[in-house]
Amino acid sequence: MRKTLFMFVLLLIGTWTWAQTPEIVSRQRALVRVNQTSKYLLIPVQEQGINATVNVLGTDHKVVQTFSVRLATDRIDYYVPLELNGANSLDFSVRFGQNGERTIADLSCWKELKFSNTFDTTNREAFRPVYHHTPAYGWMNDPNGMYYKDGVYHLSFQWNPYGSMWGNMTWGHSTSRDLIHWEAQSPVIWSDGLGSVFSGSAVVDKDNTAGFGAGAVVAFYTSAGASQMQSIAYSTDGGKTFTKYAGNPVLTLNVPDFRDPKVFWNEDIKKWNLILAAGQQMRIYSSANLKEWTYESSFGEGYGSHGGVWECPDLVKLPVRGTGQSKWMLVCNINPGGPFGGSATQYFVGQFDGHRFTCESAPEVSKWMDYGKDHYATVTFSNAPDNRVIALAWMSNWQYANQVPTMQFRSANSVPRDLDLFTYNGETYVGVTPSKELLALRGAKVKAPTETCEIVVDVRKNTQLVLSNAKGEEVTMTYDAAKQTFTMDRTKSGAVGFSEAFPCETVAPVYGPLKQLRLFIDKCSIEVLDTDGRLAMTNLVFPSEPYNTLTVKGGKATIYEINN
Ligand code: FRU
Repeated sequence: MRKTLFMFVLLLIGTWTWAQTPEIVSRQRALVRVNQTSKYLLIPVQEQGINATVNVLGTDHKVVQTFSVRLATDRIDYYVPLELNGANSLDFSVRFGQNGERTIADLSCWKELKFSNTFDTTNREAFRPVYHHTPAYGWMNDPNGMYYKDGVYHLSFQWNPYGSMWGNMTWGHSTSRDLIHWEAQSPVIWSDGLGSVFSGSAVVDKDNTAGFGAGAVVAFYTSAGASQMQSIAYSTDGGKTFTKYAGNPVLTLNVPDFRDPKVFWNEDIKKWNLILAAGQQMRIYSSANLKEWTYESSFGEGYGSHGGVWECPDLVKLPVRGTGQSKWMLVCNINPGGPFGGSATQYFVGQFDGHRFTCESAPEVSKWMDYGKDHYATVTFSNAPDNRVIALAWMSNWQYANQVPTMQFRSANSVPRDLDLFTYNGETYVGVTPSKELLALRGAKVKAPTETCEIVVDVRKNTQLVLSNAKGEEVTMTYDAAKQTFTMDRTKSGAVGFSEAFPCETVAPVYGPLKQLRLFIDKCSIEVLDTDGRLAMTNLVFPSEPYNTLTVKGGKATIYEINN
């Protein structure tokens, strides 16, 4: 009996222990001594709580890490794990206004601060997608550093490990063999003295042009501190761990918004190209060794939409359907300034000779890759097999991304989409087709929609689809063949009140008659793509219970379960 009791106590200790009461150093500062070997400190967070700066100190009291966290002030929304890595103490500081009685000692977080060897990531969110990539916990925005190597797709992402709102930008990391089932890996790039780690890309340096080793993965990211600069990190263990290049930064420019480098091998000039955002333009560089970059040209002045900041570019060569020819597409994510407010992905089609991109459309033409409201920061995988150009987008919008009704994690990526080009009435547009890997998810035919399903709709001239539930929540989608438009209305879709910018109707042009649509529904998202790749519309929805009724007028729908 005594032995059992002892074991039980051991088990408890092994699971977690309360942290000691912190030492209150001043009204705004508290010190937590670690004094033991647990893997994590679990920090209670309240999203509307007070923002603290935390300095993690080593045994010699040098700062080994600094981050911010919204400490639980009077209630706990969730915990975040801080990996201790042998830290000696943690120095918490907050800023209270001049007046007022409150001190750091009054925060409720201290009572629930715990040391633990484990952190429970079991899903607690009704809205967590099943077949879309999400972070195990914490905030995610842009997909970063996407590449394929040795049968594995690597996806990094803008990640906050210390809260489900934007902040503390690092590169999280997930891997997949089929672009659908993602496994969480350890984060790959952490902030340093040059700044937080903003968006960027990664390439596989097969011929060792950089000298880091043949087949090294070389990542490019923005070091965002007092200014924005471009840095390199490389991996010689297949992308598990990265070493920062000692010569960072590799690219600087005296403009405030200078970020999101996308690097690619350009076979036409047998060199690397880099494209990145600089204010209202995209700047293009070239290099033989990935370290020294020569400025080539800028694109953007007077072209397309300039309603917001230009971010996260990409530049890819794509086949034009039925012609045997290729053109280049320059991707320009823009926020705000999207067609329905906030963030969106615009693109330009033209020629690129390794030095200069020339847009073939009139300057005033704006083209959008997806006509929904939740499709942003789209970029493509590097080194994808079979010459495929596969894109992923972040399924949210900066207008309300921090407010969407989830907490344990925030935001998902779109389903993977293969890109090409097609021409309609003299203009060339991007073709967006659901990646073939999605077909493997198709399960049995079912009578009614579920919270994770695929709906295939053979459309006729005018087709209306209404997804609804018993609470009277509904999403209405309409294809109007005469107007050549497809519309989605989510004004009555469920929880819409968390932001004035959320309820909306999105409208897409369709280039020629639509034949068949594929709708991907996954808890809180609806992606509508047509099988000819002429329509893409991605919108989030937060129904209080799943839509279980589909009403179709003027078309024929088949509903498939998702086999995950
Ligand atoms: C786009 C963006 C990028 C930047 C990153 C920061 O969503 O603003 O331009 O690198 O997010 O998280």
